[in-house]
Amino acid sequence: MATQTLPEAKAASATIPTAVDVRLLGLRKSYGDVVAVDGVDLEIAPGEFFTLLGPSGSGKTTTLRLIAGFERPDVGRIELSGVDVTARAPYERDVNTVFQDYALFPHMTVAERKPDQLSGGQRQRIALARALVNAPKVLLLDEPLGALDLKLRQEMQIELKRIQRDVSEVGITFVYVTHDQEEALTMSDRLAVFNDGRIEQLGTPAEVYEHPATEFVAGFVGISNVLERDGRRFTVRPEKIQMHFDGDGDGGGEPGRIRDVVYVGMFTRYIVELESGGELTVVRQNLETSSADALESRGRRVRLEWRPEHTFDMERPGGHE
Ligand SMILES: Nc1ncnc2c1ncn2[C@@H]1O[C@H](COP(=O)(O)OP(=O)(O)O)[C@@H](O)[C@H]1O
Ligand SMILES: [Mg+2]
Repeated sequence: MATQTLPEAKAASATIPTAVDVRLLGLRKSYGDVVAVDGVDLEIAPGEFFTLLGPSGSGKTTTLRLIAGFERPDVGRIELSGVDVTARAPYERDVNTVFQDYALFPHMTVAERKPDQLSGGQRQRIALARALVNAPKVLLLDEPLGALDLKLRQEMQIELKRIQRDVSEVGITFVYVTHDQEEALTMSDRLAVFNDGRIEQLGTPAEVYEHPATEFVAGFVGISNVLERDGRRFTVRPEKIQMHFDGDGDGGGEPGRIRDVVYVGMFTRYIVELESGGELTVVRQNLETSSADALESRGRRVRLEWRPEHTFDMERPGGHE
């Protein structure tokens, strides 16, 4: 299991919850030559908001469909509240599903209004209300906000989280699928990062973001920033790096040159080539910097400094399991 690859101290809060609502044991599912889910072990506690995060094609939907019973695993077992449901039909499982688009049937009306006359947000609120009305033990959500524009998506994230907090008192567990790292970090109690049908890392948002266990996780959840120094491979997050322009400060830190500048309004992203090899992305809030200032710094010589406690050792690529 992927949790075993975590350093011991960090694995503590990612370890198995005492009460288990959803348990997946050695799940494997292939379609022809494609292994969609490749040995997934997972335990989710009652009332938990648990997210399956990963790029397109990494096996998230298949895992969800296996839990729902729309698919049968080739190998492995699915338990709900300690009961083996692997061979049970979807309607024999205490589980409801909310999909991205087709949660409402086009011919059905909500108080005389057809679904296509409702906004995306209204449609998903109704889909969610319907999925919750018979109080399932587990609610499965497959990219439910994926079709909404950014502003509405952010509003719905907060609303969904509030609903989950309210209903979690009656014990509804949310298993949420998204490819959006920010969404996963915002909403989840814990998350599993999927890559190629496997769980690459499992933990709380802070654990996964601050202590990415593999290079894949470091790059998928946030900006990767991997450096190699003295035979050590490590990552340091962009917001933990201080950037001094030449002549500033005490002259400490690693020298480099700003290769590229991306102005993002609230902040600016600087891509810095280091003299000792490698490249780091640095993020700076635009406290006093205008876009013109930021863009003019391209090509300038800088020194980058970070604290040792903000660096984390990486496994070798492909080193998991
Ligand atoms: N019904 C299917 N038939 C064939 N291949 C499938 C089917 N469902 C999923 N796959 C394949 O399995 C892999 C995982 O898919 P999926 O679980 O949908 O990933 P995700 O939801 O993370 O995008 C992909 O390579 C996908 O093409
Ligand atoms: Mg999917």
